[in-house]
Amino acid sequence: MLIHPIVADPVIDFAEDVCSGLCKPGQKELPSKYLYDEIGSRLFEVICALPEYGLTRADERLLRKHAREIVDRVRGEVVVAELGSGSGKKTRWILEALSRHRPTSYYPIEISATALAMCERELADIDAVSIVGCEREYLDGLLEVAARRLRGQRMLVLFLGSTIGNFDRPADVSFLREMRLILEPGDALLLGTDLEKPVLQLIDAYDDPLGVTAAFNLNLLTRINRELNADFNLARFEHVSRFNPDTRSVEMHLRSTRHQIVTLGKAGISVPILEDETIWTETSHKYSLNEVVSMSEEAGFRCDAQWIDHEWPFAENLLIAE
Ligand SMILES: C[S@@+](CC[C@H](N)C(=O)[O-])C[C@H]1O[C@@H](n2cnc3c(N)ncnc32)[C@H](O)[C@@H]1O
Repeated sequence: MLIHPIVADPVIDFAEDVCSGLCKPGQKELPSKYLYDEIGSRLFEVICALPEYGLTRADERLLRKHAREIVDRVRGEVVVAELGSGSGKKTRWILEALSRHRPTSYYPIEISATALAMCERELADIDAVSIVGCEREYLDGLLEVAARRLRGQRMLVLFLGSTIGNFDRPADVSFLREMRLILEPGDALLLGTDLEKPVLQLIDAYDDPLGVTAAFNLNLLTRINRELNADFNLARFEHVSRFNPDTRSVEMHLRSTRHQIVTLGKAGISVPILEDETIWTETSHKYSLNEVVSMSEEAGFRCDAQWIDHEWPFAENLLIAE
């Protein structure tokens, strides 16, 4: 089953975001959510399998090992909502642990129709789990799921893969606060956070030698060409992954290798881009354990437990809405 999007015209939203990001004074930027069209969602799956990108394997190791304990800490009848489920592969561990004792409703909330379809296929075989895909932005989807829950049901929200790190600080705290306003006291949020680690390891994770992450990043320009009738020449841009020590984040950029002018036909504008100028496309903040606890408290949650993977420093944090 699928809840379809209520977007007036997604192309108009896309055009507005691209125009304002490219015409912004100073650093040009594009929202990372647009990386996930059909090709982007498939490339992201490949990134998760790359040896340099240990994040997904660490997340999965923790879920596989601790799923029973995690679900035992969330009492009562539970409705599961997952923000940005992607293919949902890791979620299997949580759903199998929950549905062992009771029938479970699972709502993956995804902006990408391709990711949502992969997720529904991936998890369809788990007995006693009913899946309702929700093609929406995170908080719109969560509001929709909250409105469907029955009296007495608890909500378990999953936000895995350290996707929270894609928000600039302090936007991550504001996002958690908005999420908290939709939840009820006692509801739970399982938050996956990638932890600080050596800079070279991080740079490699976002700039693999096969060039898959570069293709994932450059594909955003292909998407803009296709959907907004633009004329980005991909040969004139390079993928860059860099660590920003001030924000403790890995940033992905697209660097222009020469001075050029790009035209966005659908928006009716032309944008000059200087040689060496970059377009910032994604942030991935790296957390400390204490930072997660204080961020959660600021947003109205109590940190009930943390499980840590030491092979690739990563934490699964169970937060309870106060
Ligand atoms: C970094 S991937 C993580 C996928 C998966 N949770 C994992 O851990 O592998 C982020 C996912 O969130 C989705 N996404 C990004 N921005 C979104 C938004 N604003 N609303 C809903 N989904 C979004 C993307 O389509 C993508 O599948």
